[in-house]
Amino acid sequence: MKSIASAPGKIILFGEHFVVYGMKAVLCSIDKRITATSQFIDEKVIRIRSSLGESEISIDSLDNLGKVQQKFMKPFFYVAQKAIKENSIKNGIEIVLESEIPPGVGLGSSSAACVAVTASVNGLFSKLSKKDVVKIAIQAERTIFEQNSGADSSVSTFGGLVSYDLKNGFGDITSRNDLNFIISNSAQVHNTQDVVRQVRIFKEKNEDLFNRLCREETDIVDDATSSLKENDLHKLGSLMLKNHDLLKQIGVSTEKIDLLVHEAKKTSYGAKITGAGGGGCIISLVDNSNSEDTLNNLRKISDCFVTKIDYSGLRYS
Ligand code: MEV
Repeated sequence: MKSIASAPGKIILFGEHFVVYGMKAVLCSIDKRITATSQFIDEKVIRIRSSLGESEISIDSLDNLGKVQQKFMKPFFYVAQKAIKENSIKNGIEIVLESEIPPGVGLGSSSAACVAVTASVNGLFSKLSKKDVVKIAIQAERTIFEQNSGADSSVSTFGGLVSYDLKNGFGDITSRNDLNFIISNSAQVHNTQDVVRQVRIFKEKNEDLFNRLCREETDIVDDATSSLKENDLHKLGSLMLKNHDLLKQIGVSTEKIDLLVHEAKKTSYGAKITGAGGGGCIISLVDNSNSEDTLNNLRKISDCFVTKIDYSGLRYS
């Protein structure tokens, strides 16, 4: 028996980094997915196979996460060990991951993988609700990234266009906007935890400035929430540029990213970093009137593609 589940990547429209300190973020899941396929195997191991490598650990001990060599796989082993313990089984489990989401560029590939693996592994026993999946997926991701806000896993599980903050969790943004974004990849791979750590250092050295930027971010997110309801693309675009400026001030932009935003600004409604920054991707807000021109412009300097909001989130198949 195979248990298959898939979960989408995400983009952050507003509020990355500030969300770690309690501010609200606005994010949506995108039409690029990771699929996890799990099955029982006779060997007494948990085995993970993905295009980024293969790794296995014995199930003789269910307390050996420290032995995992490829750190990004630790959350998946955590999920499988937890399921084996809770269901007292003697078999091993093999998990195969297939991804359409480029890794390490701010599109939520690790959270989507945690969500897909949680649903797929537990689906071998009984299908979990989305609420239960997201709880375990966040715990799993925290085995390698303790400060993670949970925003990425939440949007990947529930899908759609949502707000998220640490206190209230996930909130639906009622209008079902049909927004189109161009994602341009700077090809500068980042490590989210390192960039989050850098921002913490910045905050500790610049408390007053950081508090002021948090207040500015809150105003941007409030205005963005109203503009989303009114589908005001011009306003949204200018708020994205303002948000990019805040991200520059906390030091998570790069020359390449600023160049991409500068070029995107010429034809799109607005553009900004999405996700942790330190490289990664930018998003540009477009519609039919300016999508082609923006793509042609950005393609000269980066890999890019058009994306739409995914409204389904986690899917079992
Ligand atoms: C990463 O996609 C988003 C950050 O805000 C970190 C987090 O929310 O956990 C940078």
